[in-house]
Amino acid sequence: MKKLIRKSVQAMSGYVPGEQPKGEGIIKLNTNENPWLCTPEVRDILNEIDVMELAKYPDPLCMEVRRVISEKHEVGPANIFAGNGSDEILALCVRAFCERDGSVGYFDPSYSLYPVLARIEEIAVKPVALDENYEWQMPEGYEASVFFLTNPNAPTGMLFPKKKVETFIQAFPGVVVIDEAYVDFARESCMEFATKYDNVLVARTLSKSYALAGIRFGYCVGAKALIDALHKIKDSYNVSRLTQELARVALLDEETMQAITAAVKGTRSLITEELTALGFKVYPSETNFVWVKPTFPGAKKIYDELRARNIFVRWFDGPRTKDCLRITVGTNEQMITLVENLEEILGK
Ligand SMILES: Cc1ncc(COP(=O)(O)O)c(C=O)c1O
Repeated sequence: MKKLIRKSVQAMSGYVPGEQPKGEGIIKLNTNENPWLCTPEVRDILNEIDVMELAKYPDPLCMEVRRVISEKHEVGPANIFAGNGSDEILALCVRAFCERDGSVGYFDPSYSLYPVLARIEEIAVKPVALDENYEWQMPEGYEASVFFLTNPNAPTGMLFPKKKVETFIQAFPGVVVIDEAYVDFARESCMEFATKYDNVLVARTLSKSYALAGIRFGYCVGAKALIDALHKIKDSYNVSRLTQELARVALLDEETMQAITAAVKGTRSLITEELTALGFKVYPSETNFVWVKPTFPGAKKIYDELRARNIFVRWFDGPRTKDCLRITVGTNEQMITLVENLEEILGK
């Protein structure tokens, strides 16, 4: 049987997404979904859908939704690519911009999908270790075909200063993909670099700030040549008819997105205070999750204890991450339950 599978695929470990437990009374704070209700426009459209339309293939170029994105960011539709979640876009970037002997760069720790995408394509990885404060210093003469720069970073939640990102872009010879999955929860965005530089793509998603992880929609903005390359290699109909329509109406309702991100930021401040009072080191978050380091009785132990109580947070094994937990900002009620359970676990 093994002979049937490519050696590189046999050798690699797949990406491990956060658990999706089902059942009553579960508190899910492990995959950075947004507990707030998305725009009511989405429900209205779902009620109006003509199922006969679903017999037809969707628009392969996602023109309607790209026009809305074009207005939102004041760029031409030719500078926009729409994908089946931003994960699809990240995968296409590796395929489009890396030669066989090229390499994929990213910070360590950051989104654990990047090395998996490189391994699928048998492309070398060139991680750059963040220091103990999760800041970076690029090695002298560093090069790669593509660099995934997650800003704000995940799982640390911290924002890298825009000026520093720009200096990096100017020196880097390959394509810089700025993964802004969480940027709506942050102070500033690097979107302007998408049209200022030829080697930059800025990727966004509706999974976080728009509370629409289930529809799978992401997009990126950048130089036409890079966008054209992504269009050349994508699946013909990569974004479903339903998703295109739901994404379009969601993107038009910027007000709801702003309201729910403001609510998340409010809860984020509260949980930061509570966890700090419980003795956790809480890193300054500009996302919809917090990255925390407990002093006692260890991150894995707390993760297991919470899990046994049906509260799911994320713990990543590995030297750079094993002492910390990533906790999604849930509803205020979920956060109160989390804190009560932590008090019991810590004996406070
Ligand atoms: C940094 C980062 N980029 C991209 C994604 C994927 O987003 P999408 O749901 O659009 O595929 C995630 C999801 O958790 C993420 O953390």
